[in-house]
Amino acid sequence: MKRFSVFAVVAMMLAFGVAQAQQPIILKFSHVVAEATPKGKGALKFKQLAESRTKGRVKVEVYPNSQLFKDGEEMQMLQLGNVQMLAPSVSKFGPLGVREFEVFDLPYIFDDEKDLHNVTQGRIGQQLFKKLDSKGIVGLAYWDNGFKQMSSNKPLKTPADFRGQKIRIQSSKILDAQMRALGATPQVMAFSEVYQALQTGVVDGQENTWSNIYTQRFNEVQKYITVSNHGVIEYAVIVNKKFWDGLPADIRTILEGAMKDATQYANDIAKQENDEALEKIKAAGKSQILTLTPEEKMAWKKAELKVHRENEATIGKERIQQIYKDTCFDPNKL
Ligand code: LMR
Repeated sequence: MKRFSVFAVVAMMLAFGVAQAQQPIILKFSHVVAEATPKGKGALKFKQLAESRTKGRVKVEVYPNSQLFKDGEEMQMLQLGNVQMLAPSVSKFGPLGVREFEVFDLPYIFDDEKDLHNVTQGRIGQQLFKKLDSKGIVGLAYWDNGFKQMSSNKPLKTPADFRGQKIRIQSSKILDAQMRALGATPQVMAFSEVYQALQTGVVDGQENTWSNIYTQRFNEVQKYITVSNHGVIEYAVIVNKKFWDGLPADIRTILEGAMKDATQYANDIAKQENDEALEKIKAAGKSQILTLTPEEKMAWKKAELKVHRENEATIGKERIQQIYKDTCFDPNKL
């Protein structure tokens, strides 16, 4: 009887050990946008590739729409290890102490996706990721969303139209300076709170991509959207360093491959997702879409150029010169 119970205990311990060994590694991936967006779809693609290629050894739990953490919480939660992966907009790295990511927010710096990729895949992209190391974070990839448009309940055509307007921004000092340069009052706010703030008039307007405007239904509470393309929403996919470095080497290699392919996918669909969202906004007929004449566009650009000079100290003169080179931006042409 005694011998039997020893066997039983050993067998139970072995079974427990096997069960433990078979427990998948859980990777929580939190983000703030809807699933039907370039980032939302990219996150699901990463999940699908990571789970199938690791044959279930990794389980990726994707939490969209600020379900798990919202802006202002998620970075800290990543550092604490309460979530393993995020893809915040590069305009949200200031509170973490890495303001240099805001170089992407310099108004009118990008003409197209090619300009953007010259920066993300070049020296600046790599240098910025290195800065995350001391924060206990690893930068894995850059994902595109698209160009931002300006919306409000008032038609915004000239810089003078911005006077008295309270406009929601992400937590970027450059975006703050951009709104002030146009004559507006910027208001930092978590993405998850923007719809209600627009609806109740806490803010008058906001800037975002067509896909975010449509999926968050901002067009239902904004009378006008100006096709301004004055900046971009770009993401840095980041992971908790301790978690990443602690993964078995073969798993990490597979996840790196899954991230590479998910990045390709997300960047391939981004433009089309935004074009389609614009068409849906037009079809919904709730907001009027305003286009700028070349003269009006030039007036916006001229008003905002000082933001570049004023921010040399925060993001680095050399970095600004580098981004001018990468994007062929010539401030003297304005
Ligand atoms: C915003 O806060 O407006 C965007 O950064 C949201 C996002 O992640 O696209």
